[in-house]
Amino acid sequence: MSSHELKNDRILRAFQRQEVDRTPLWMMRQAGRYLPEYREVRSQAGSFMGLCRSPELAARVTLQPLERYDLDAAILFSDILTVPDAMGLGLSFVTGEGPVFERRIQSNADIDALPQPSAQKELRYVMDAVQACRQELAGRVPLIGFTGSPWTLATYMVEGGSSKTFAASKTLVYDQPQAAHRLLTKLADAVADYLTGQVEAGAQALMIFDTWGGALDPERYRDFSLAYMSRIIESLPREAEGRRVPVTVFTKGGGQWLEEIAECGADAVGLDWTTSMADARQRIGHKVALQGNIDPCMLHANPEFIRQEVARCLAEFGHGPGHIFNLGHGIQPETPPENVAAMVDAVHEFSPQYHGN
Ligand code: CP3
Repeated sequence: MSSHELKNDRILRAFQRQEVDRTPLWMMRQAGRYLPEYREVRSQAGSFMGLCRSPELAARVTLQPLERYDLDAAILFSDILTVPDAMGLGLSFVTGEGPVFERRIQSNADIDALPQPSAQKELRYVMDAVQACRQELAGRVPLIGFTGSPWTLATYMVEGGSSKTFAASKTLVYDQPQAAHRLLTKLADAVADYLTGQVEAGAQALMIFDTWGGALDPERYRDFSLAYMSRIIESLPREAEGRRVPVTVFTKGGGQWLEEIAECGADAVGLDWTTSMADARQRIGHKVALQGNIDPCMLHANPEFIRQEVARCLAEFGHGPGHIFNLGHGIQPETPPENVAAMVDAVHEFSPQYHGN
């Protein structure tokens, strides 16, 4: 069989709002610490970045959730912070503290000194992981590649890690907008090259995680986050192996800006749980596909409640194609794997009635 043949293209059809037999689903962070088999490989690898840098191990954990659940896509196992790491900031993950950079962006000189990382050099290991995933998948389901948005990456680079207030990164935007634009331009160029490299290596769909876009005011969101995502999307190859390579933009907390987000050139818009599917479909469902939007905390509740929420989410989207079922943010490490099974089964059981005649 040619490696280009897909046994399950449901999600690619849904991204283009074409007819499907049931609503496709995958989960943000579907390969991760809630799975005991992930924790096992993670401990063998030593560090999280060690896992990302090994194409063989990255491919193995990418496929783990597909062995357990009947999902319609795989997402490359990696992290959004590989790009700032490749720009020389020195990334590590400290248990209990999350990501930490050895160096952070503190001045104009720091911005000017940042090197442009190349998908074929510093980030070659990610492209090798994409290739290894495609080989292991052997056409089972499509592989999603991804990146962080320039703004979301910039927050980590300026703060030096995670932040609750984004005080340093927002101060850069307010006090030195030109410097912020220079940093974001460098990141947009790096991200465009990174995503192009992933498509060339075999990614069949792409997603931009704008996790912290919702922390901005409307005007700064438009100028400092959305504008850069549009610019990136414009420059991407949109076809590979004879098929469209759909792009999803996910701005967490972006529900109030859906009309603008739907104009950015993306095929699909990711939603968190603070927007109702019904509202989103009415507002932008005629332009783009919609991905989401179960609150990941719902997976801590009892299986019967989970089934009802799946039914509600599907009913809110309603009849017809263009829904990619997902969570509204990443699955949490404490999630019981059997509750995930309840969600997946409910999507399989309840969604066919919304498709066909
Ligand atoms: O979805 C998937 O299965 C693909 C893998 C993936 C990871 N991170 C693996 C990971 C993806 C798509 C990401 C994206 C990512 N990383 C985002 C954007 C999406 C989001 O969740 O908002 C962000 C903000 C990051 C940055 C990051 N990486 C954080 C905040 C953390 C958590 C740190 C911690 O210790 O809790 C990470 C680490 C990380 N990335 C883990 C995984 C499975 C856990 C690390 C481990 O195994 O020790």
